[in-house]
Amino acid sequence: MSENKIRKSTEKLDEKIGEYCVRELSLASEGRKLIDWAESRMPVLMSLRKELSKTKPLAGFTLAGSLHVTKETAVLIETFAAAGAKVSWSGCNPLSTNDAVAAALVEAGHSVYAWYGNHDDFYWCIERTIDHKPNLILDDGADLINTLHLNHAEYSKNEIIGGTEETTTGVHRLRKRGEAGQLYFPVYAVNDVETKWDFDNVYGTGQSTLDGIIRATSVLLAGKKFVTAGYGHCGKGVALRAKGMGADTIVTEIKATAALKAVLESHNVMPMEEAAAIGDVFCTATGVKDVIRKWHFEKMKDGAIVCNTGHYDCEINIPELEELSLSKRTIRPNCEEYIMKDGRRIYLLAQGRLINLAAAEGHPSEVMDMSFANQLMSQLRLVEAHKAGTKLERIVLDLPEEQDQFIAGKKLEALGMGLDALTYEQKFYIDDFNAGT
Ligand code: ADE
Repeated sequence: MSENKIRKSTEKLDEKIGEYCVRELSLASEGRKLIDWAESRMPVLMSLRKELSKTKPLAGFTLAGSLHVTKETAVLIETFAAAGAKVSWSGCNPLSTNDAVAAALVEAGHSVYAWYGNHDDFYWCIERTIDHKPNLILDDGADLINTLHLNHAEYSKNEIIGGTEETTTGVHRLRKRGEAGQLYFPVYAVNDVETKWDFDNVYGTGQSTLDGIIRATSVLLAGKKFVTAGYGHCGKGVALRAKGMGADTIVTEIKATAALKAVLESHNVMPMEEAAAIGDVFCTATGVKDVIRKWHFEKMKDGAIVCNTGHYDCEINIPELEELSLSKRTIRPNCEEYIMKDGRRIYLLAQGRLINLAAAEGHPSEVMDMSFANQLMSQLRLVEAHKAGTKLERIVLDLPEEQDQFIAGKKLEALGMGLDALTYEQKFYIDDFNAGT
C-alpha cells in the first residue's frame, strides 16, 4: 500500500473501504432534515434538478468534488446524482464538514470522505475521491486539482475532461498554473461570475462570518472597533455587516482604489500596524499569508479577538502567536485564549481557519443557490463540449455573461420579482452610434 493509502487518524470513524469515511452514520436522519431545509431555500438549483433528472446529461460521468460538506453542498451533490453522475466527495477544509450532512449523503449512497476536525487525513480523503476514477472535477481552493497534478499527472492529462473552481484564491492559483502552461485540463472560473462573487462573497461571507464570530464569542459588536483586513468582495461584506451591528469599522488594504472605496463606504482606513493597537475584533479576508503577525500581536490590547475568513489558515501567523504566549486554553468551542508574557490575553477563533464554516454553517442556502447553480451549469458546459468533440484550452476559462443572466433571472423569478424589457426603439437607440445630444 502506498503512503497515501494509509489513514493516519486513530479516531473512531464510520468507514467502508472504497466507499466512504465519515464521523458517524447514525447522524444521518439529523443531516437529512438539514438538507431538506436547504432544498426549500435553493429554488434555482432545485428547478435545474427537476429538468436534469429527466434528461440525465451526466449519465456515464464520474465527478470528484472537494468542497465544504454542508447542507447546501449536499443539495448540489444530489443534483449531480439526479442528473446521472456518480459522485465522490471530500471536504476542502479540516473544520468545515457538517458530520450529520456527511452521514446523510452516505446513507443516500454517495461516496463521501469528510469529517469535522480532519487535520491528519485531509489529503488522504482527497486521494480516496480520486480512487473513483473521476473525469469531472469540482474544487474549492484547488487542493484536489493540485493533488491530481502532483500525484496523478498522466491520469489528469488523459482522463479528466475539465474542472470548475469555486473560490477567489483557488482561481488565482490555477490561473498562474495555466499561464505557466502547467494546467492539465481546462478549469472554469466559477468564482468570477457576477452571480457568484457579487452575492456569495459579499452577502454570504458578510453574514456567515459575523455569525461565526458571534457563535464563537457571544460578544457585543456594537461599539467595538472591528478591523477587517482586505477590502475585496469578502472583506467588503464583513465590514458592511460589522457596521450594521453597530461596530466602529476599520479596514486595512494594500490597494489604493480598494482603500478609497472603503473610505467612501464610511470605514476608517489605516495600516494594520496602527489598527493592531486599537482593534477589539480582527478578521482577515485577504488571501495572503501573515497579515496578522508577531509585530501586530505585540501591540494588541488585552482581550483582542482574532479570526480569519479567507480560504487558507495562513493569514494569521499562529506559530508567532504561540511563540509570544506563555500558555493557552480553550475557553469555549472555537475560542482559544492565549496568555501573553506581559499578561495580555488574545483570543484566537477557529484555529485561524474559516470562521464562518468552522464556527457557523457557512453562507446561507439562499446565496449558495446561485453559486451552486453556476457550478452545475459549468460542469454541464464541460460535458456538452466533450460530447460535441470540442477541445477546450487547458487554461482557466471565463464563463459567458448569458449564464449569469440566466441564473439571476431564475432567482428573480423564484423571488416573484419581474424585469423590464427594452422596446424595439430603445434597443435601436442604444446601438445607434449616430445618436447624440
Ligand atoms: N462556502 C461558504 N459557505 C458555504 C456553504 N454553506 N456551503 C458550501 N460552501 C460554502
